[in-house]
Amino acid sequence: MHTPSHRIAIYPGDGIGPEVTTAAVRVLETACALRSVMLDLARFDWGCDHHDRHGCVAPEDFLETLAGFDAIFLGAVGWPQRLPDHVTLAPLIQMRQAFDLYACLRPARTYPGVRSPLVDPATIDMAVVRENSEGEYLAIGGRARTGTDDEIAVESAIHTRRGIERILRFSFDLARNRRRHLTLITKSNAMRHGYVLWDTVHDLVAAEYPDVTTERQHVDAASMKFVLRPSAFDVVVASNLFGDILTDLSGAITGSIGLNPSANLNPSRRFPSLFEPVHGSAPDITGRHLANPIGAILAAAMMMDWLGSTAIGDAIRKGVESTLAAGDGTPDIGGILTTEEMTDRVVATLGEKPQ
Ligand code: NAD
Ligand code: IPM
Ligand code: MN
Repeated sequence: MHTPSHRIAIYPGDGIGPEVTTAAVRVLETACALRSVMLDLARFDWGCDHHDRHGCVAPEDFLETLAGFDAIFLGAVGWPQRLPDHVTLAPLIQMRQAFDLYACLRPARTYPGVRSPLVDPATIDMAVVRENSEGEYLAIGGRARTGTDDEIAVESAIHTRRGIERILRFSFDLARNRRRHLTLITKSNAMRHGYVLWDTVHDLVAAEYPDVTTERQHVDAASMKFVLRPSAFDVVVASNLFGDILTDLSGAITGSIGLNPSANLNPSRRFPSLFEPVHGSAPDITGRHLANPIGAILAAAMMMDWLGSTAIGDAIRKGVESTLAAGDGTPDIGGILTTEEMTDRVVATLGEKPQ
């Protein structure tokens, strides 16, 4: 029988990035070993330490290095106390843009065993799709009259018909495999060019998916509804910046940002896709064994799904669910376990080799 084999680049990064990466890799290696899936992992210690030694956070040719892998796993990047964010975070944005990782999928759900901070917690099961290749993240702009009282800064957002259409099609296709409801989130009442184009393209694409119900919400109202009626959301699609903000919120309402995974996908598969937790490098808890590893572990599960080893993804998700249901958790979800103990619990659920 053919043995599946996956070549994966591991980029642990900064802060708690290496801590949650170690956890995710342990779970991944255990799940794959038990199910005869081969893993070929190559670790790249890029980030602040690399900058201390070599004067750059990643080598100049890092994109060429990564291009040859089946997928990339990232812990988290950034450590503002050591280096400015725009330096440490540059490789992440470059990967998303150079590899055309335009579909950023960030599922968020409640789990039995994990308390939501909401007063009236309902079952939350949403998939936020974040446009990941354009919008507010292209660094188009500049500063003038620098240092004077009249200083100006311009930061342009770019929204293209092609970019909007492809992320909407991705989202509608996803909705067809879920509860067939899509919410488009914009701010087209105040930003009358880019977001009105989103509305226009949405209406055209929606007409091709009569089996999916859709609604449009402005991001201010949507933020309120995430808190007051989150169970109403199924697929949520938003621009790069709004998707970023809303997915810290979707993490918070489901119990902790430490629980949520993120897949940065190149649906054409011309380039490797990138998998990471939604959270950042959390310098405030780095080195204290407090980091919740579940977001990273679930990102590894999404990576296995993407690579075709869905049985591994399913096994990891089942293991996470039963661990959380048992009430085991790190302090961010009210538990007392360390990162390592939490990982041990998930590893223990993976069980014996299936027959
Ligand atoms: P953050 O997500 O790192 O942390 C926000 C809060 O959530 C902190 O209090 C942190 O302790 C907590 N938290 C985050 N992950 C957790 C986990 N797994 N378990 C328990 N608690 C967790 O956001 P921030 O503080 O705004 O940013 C810190 C650094 O990370 C900055 O340099 C920022 O630019 C960077 N960042 C990187 C990524 C990424 O690599 N994808 C994402 C977001 C922020
Ligand atoms: C995320 C992060 C990044 C983003 C930062 C680190 C550039 O917040 O992945 O959610 O804004 O995309
Ligand atoms: Mn973010």
